[in-house]
Amino acid sequence: MIIVLLGPPGAGKGTQAQRIMDTKGLVQLSTGDMLRAAKKAGTEVGKKAKEFMDAGKLVTDEIVIGIIADRIEEDDCKQGFLLDGFPRTVAQAEALDELLKNKGLHVDVVIEMKVNDESLVDRIAGRYTCAECNQGYHDTNLKPQQADVCDSCGSTNFNRRSDDNRETVIERLATYHAQTAPLLPFYEQKGVLRTVDGMADIDDVTVQINDVLNQL
Ligand code: AP5
Ligand code: MG
Ligand code: ZN
Repeated sequence: MIIVLLGPPGAGKGTQAQRIMDTKGLVQLSTGDMLRAAKKAGTEVGKKAKEFMDAGKLVTDEIVIGIIADRIEEDDCKQGFLLDGFPRTVAQAEALDELLKNKGLHVDVVIEMKVNDESLVDRIAGRYTCAECNQGYHDTNLKPQQADVCDSCGSTNFNRRSDDNRETVIERLATYHAQTAPLLPFYEQKGVLRTVDGMADIDDVTVQINDVLNQL
């Protein structure tokens, strides 16, 4: 199954992707995570991506399409995958269709996570992840059971993203509305768009997504 999670920054794509991964056994492909890994490793792609990411702008279609084209060839994608943060432009969506068509595949469902822009700055400003296993947390909404210890792996090292500041979040939101929101009518026309209420509790959103997936 090929699932796309679509929503603005802080909508909960990464949070829900981790859960779907666990229950459906699908691998999560987050272009944001891949670009951050490239940035950290200091690769050419990472260097090119850095200035766009830090400004809250989109990295070029060419770079992200290249990353996804390579990644979906790997063995762990054979059973399907869950796209988190890709596609983000109509050109990326068309390129994805083409890549999948060559494999006799297509996007099965696009889940739109609908949220109010006003709540997103707080969500993002409070966010952090485990430095070892990437499990996501939030200062008030989703704390580890034992303070400063990762529930999943026991690590005590955590990271905060460099683009998670107020100004960049506002820019990322504007980018979403200008360049990514046009994907909603694009996928609606194809009959694969489903919408969930991303303002509900994290567990509620998971229930809504599971309902959508169980109806397929
Ligand atoms: P990316 O890493 O994809 O960032 P994003 O889209 O801005 O989304 P986020 O990761 O910030 O939010 P999320 O929806 O995953 O929310 P989360 O689950 O963490 O992209 C970063 C950058 O990379 C882009 O700006 C761009 O430059 C570049 N890039 C990436 N892909 C690209 C592409 N395809 N093309 C071009 N450029 C690309 O949740 C947020 C917080 O809220 C968490 O703390 C969580 O605990 C909390 N939370 C989640 N759900 C709820 C809930 N229901 N109620 C309360 N709190 C909640
Ligand atoms: Mg994310
Ligand atoms: Zn961990």
